[in-house]
Amino acid sequence: MTQEHDLLRITDLQVDFNTFEGCLHVLDRVSITARMGEKVGLVGESGCGKSTLGRCIVRRVRPVAGEIIFWSERLNNVEDIVSVTDSIWKQLRKQIQMIFQEPGAAINPVFTVGDQLRAAIRFSAPTHIGKSQIQRRAIELLQEVQLSDPERIMSSYPFQLSGGMQQRICIAMALGVQPSLLIADEPTTALDVTIQEQILRLFNDLVSYHRTAVIFITHNLGVVREIADRVYVMYAGQVMESATTDELFENPMHPYTRGLISAVPKLTGGGIIEGIPGHIPSYLDPPTGCRFCTRCPDVVPKCDEVRPPIGSINASHEVACFLYGGEAS
Ligand SMILES: Nc1ncnc2c1ncn2[C@@H]1O[C@H](COP(=O)(O)OP(=O)(O)OP(=O)(O)O)[C@@H](O)[C@H]1O
Ligand SMILES: [Mg+2]
Repeated sequence: MTQEHDLLRITDLQVDFNTFEGCLHVLDRVSITARMGEKVGLVGESGCGKSTLGRCIVRRVRPVAGEIIFWSERLNNVEDIVSVTDSIWKQLRKQIQMIFQEPGAAINPVFTVGDQLRAAIRFSAPTHIGKSQIQRRAIELLQEVQLSDPERIMSSYPFQLSGGMQQRICIAMALGVQPSLLIADEPTTALDVTIQEQILRLFNDLVSYHRTAVIFITHNLGVVREIADRVYVMYAGQVMESATTDELFENPMHPYTRGLISAVPKLTGGGIIEGIPGHIPSYLDPPTGCRFCTRCPDVVPKCDEVRPPIGSINASHEVACFLYGGEAS
């Protein structure tokens, strides 16, 4: 049996953005973990900080507090991504890949797809590999993401391809590096439903063959239910609940999670469902307690002042809400 241990452990991560209007307090003491080979879903409505959290893991955003501990198999060591030196980060970077929400963020417009794909493969190879081997692997990767006519695509520039094709190239580049952690930020949003299915299946294969852990960021609960072993529910920069996927859908506890699940439109009809009234509070001056308090149907007076501690419902189910205990301190 393989020993299960945390590949990633994020503790109390805080992110502020300084803007013209003032300081936006976006992430508020976010803690999440991912085990080796685990598929972790990160859900929450638009603007709740999912991409910001992903960007912190690849050092595109600097937190003001907290740690991001990553277990590196190559270095046989744990490192804090927030504070490692650039030379160690260069090593870790080969093991962590992110598929960005906007393909434009990852593809360089002035190089052909082939140039970029070959560079990604060369970058990640543990030892030197020959040109023809790189070329073969690049074509294989394009086929894996269901792109037909890989030779033509290799010699194309990104602007000559559709958005969906560009997104699949980003996926191919991320897979080509064979990371131990893959952060997939809404990777299938730009794709049509049939290709979305294929890509999701591909993620599953990747995880089982390479024991890659995936942090799958999405606002689509249906996708999360299909892909994730475990889910974190975020709201306005705070983690509200986490549980195994089955448990979360069968027994959602946080009022926000319950609202989110009941707001999923059903194909069986019944009109437009109500959703959760209201919207995310301003990050300029959010409540110091639970940030969902302004929309919560079960709010009590202390909620806006005191952050409910994370309580364990069972070994794999945690919720931050005074409904389930926790004294104000
Ligand atoms: N570089 C930045 N400067 C200022 N504000 C930012 C920056 N990046 C993100 N934000 C703000 O942080 C908040 C969270 O943004 P983020 O992109 O992380 O949300 P998200 O959960 O990924 O949303 P979506 O589902 O729409 O992608 C938003 O209010 C956004 O405007
Ligand atoms: Mg996002």
